[in-house]
Amino acid sequence: MRKPVSRVLVINDETLILREFVKGLNAAARSLDNPLGLTFTGVTTASEALAAIESDGDVQAAIVDDKLYSLDGGKSKRLQMTALELVQRITRMRPELDVYILIAQEHEDEVVDTLFAEAVDGYFYREERDYRGMYRILNAEIQERARTPFYDQLKNYVWMAKDSWHTPGHSSGESLRASPWINDFYEFMGEHVFDVDLSVSVPVLDSLMEPRGVIAEAQGMAAQAFGSRRTFFATNGTSTANKVIFQTLLAPGEKLLLDRNCHKSVHHGVVLSGAHPVYLNSSVNRKYGLYGPVPKKVILEAIEANKDAEALILTSCTYDGLRYDLPPIVAAAHAAGIKVIIDEAWYGFARFHPAFRPTALEAGADYATQSTHKVMSAFSQASMIHVNDPTFNEHIFRENFNMHTSTSPQYAMIASLDVARKQMMMEGYKLLARTLALANELREQINSTGVFRVLDLDELLPEDVRHDGIRLDPTKVTVDISRCGCTVEDLQRELFTRFNIQVEKSTFNTVTLLLTVGTTRSKVSRLYDALMRIAREGRAARRLVQFPDVPDFTRLRCLPRDAYYCGGEAVPLLDPKENPNKALAERVCADQIVPYPPGIPVLVPGQVITRPILDFLVGLLRSQKRLELHGIVYDGYAPCLRVLKSSEERGLRRLA
Ligand SMILES: Cc1ncc(COP(=O)(O)O)c(C=O)c1O
Repeated sequence: MRKPVSRVLVINDETLILREFVKGLNAAARSLDNPLGLTFTGVTTASEALAAIESDGDVQAAIVDDKLYSLDGGKSKRLQMTALELVQRITRMRPELDVYILIAQEHEDEVVDTLFAEAVDGYFYREERDYRGMYRILNAEIQERARTPFYDQLKNYVWMAKDSWHTPGHSSGESLRASPWINDFYEFMGEHVFDVDLSVSVPVLDSLMEPRGVIAEAQGMAAQAFGSRRTFFATNGTSTANKVIFQTLLAPGEKLLLDRNCHKSVHHGVVLSGAHPVYLNSSVNRKYGLYGPVPKKVILEAIEANKDAEALILTSCTYDGLRYDLPPIVAAAHAAGIKVIIDEAWYGFARFHPAFRPTALEAGADYATQSTHKVMSAFSQASMIHVNDPTFNEHIFRENFNMHTSTSPQYAMIASLDVARKQMMMEGYKLLARTLALANELREQINSTGVFRVLDLDELLPEDVRHDGIRLDPTKVTVDISRCGCTVEDLQRELFTRFNIQVEKSTFNTVTLLLTVGTTRSKVSRLYDALMRIAREGRAARRLVQFPDVPDFTRLRCLPRDAYYCGGEAVPLLDPKENPNKALAERVCADQIVPYPPGIPVLVPGQVITRPILDFLVGLLRSQKRLELHGIVYDGYAPCLRVLKSSEERGLRRLA
């Protein structure tokens, strides 16, 4: 097993004292138990300190002497900063680090008061020279951050090998291991998959529904790591996390401002909560078929026009890596008393490298939902809900959380959240720095093919969000494929079958690649090699068929929930002559109709159907492209829409 390295940086501008400290601390590390590989190294100036912390991902802690620091080795007085300013710069860059201050005993009172207002973890007296004592404290603190309370307890429990007289029925895999029919599944999955598949019948493993033990502890550590007041582990993905928050914040009929391009779980959450949705139209980049963020102007105007709204939800960053300039949006929403929820399904790692910050919470959001599994080391479905809402109603939240949570959650998933948090705390900065470097390399390599081209922020941004301060997450790489001589479907098939490469998503002329903390240089090389080979084959250009624009939102006749729960009737999309069925125009849809891709609902429950929408849907059904059309009902072979009967419509409260 590879052993970790934990570097501690000592910053003191007096070279002799610095040398003495580094020597003393390293001697203590050598002579005492040192499982995390602590080593001490020294610098004398603030700029060296900041450079070391920026370039060395193994730095886990810093000890700053309480002095004035020069940024340039003391050449200019103007560039000096206090130790406290240096601490602030360090924690702004790497909030996960432990930071200590060395002080003179006689200055204790004045320094300590200031320190506690800042992100300083403690202080040592300079004169004591108690290197072994300092080492023990630093080692304990770093070990504390590296703890995984839930995972540790789970492992201990497995090693205790208790006889199981409880669920699950496979009883640590016994029912499979002995079976001639399904023992191959046991062998393939591995014994621990079954060993850790335990249940709430084991009290030492705590309860996800009412955490008071190791789950509560693990969630508390995650809150600290991700910068929230409270964090909750969700084992049904961000899809459920969004719904839990909606049901907490919104009573039926209360207004929610939402990007029309939000994930479908958000639209499902509207139905479940009974919210009155106010849809904000996303920007569209027609050239590449990409749906982008909602223009800032549209959001601010919607806030102004809907001050009675309870909440606003936006996705940041989007699937393609576009992230909002959130602080002014959050400020405007808060000024109107509107809570802000940010769906950070694709952006959970952002806290751990300054290139990605501010995070939604740092920008002031009340809630952030993150699919830890999408971009960090957790199992699928493992997500986190982070809460910074100053008026958080924990009781209501808990009721809703429990309503959506299985009473038999997967313990491996909870453990993977604990472990993913540890990893981000201990090596997130280093891994993200590597991922960013690989993303840069990949961009250059793809562009060097002369055929494939990575789109930069300017090309990705739709015209109407060009001046909104939107930034690009460089780990999402969108590639223009229009000159490679393949349709996007052919290219994806070829990458998969000939080169063993599966990409994340596509539009008619782009593919998007997702780099994560698990991306390796060899994977980058293999992708480059595949694209270069295809590029060199010099295939003749193909005509690429553009996806038609999703029609504009029409209007809501009633609340989505009211429409959804009507029985309705299925009316065919096509008339007997195979034309769009005019009888559907002006009817009210009962389902959510979503072509995938791009995943934006063309109709939501309660929405009035119009001719352009019918033409659009029929056009999609007739197209030869492989496309899913969620929400269509089939009567035999006839595609239909479920719409409200007129008697049902009459019985519902009309919105428009
Ligand atoms: C923006 C967004 N939010 C939420 C989700 C749902 O996340 P999960 O897969 O964790 O349920 C997705 C999934 O793709 C998504 O793209």
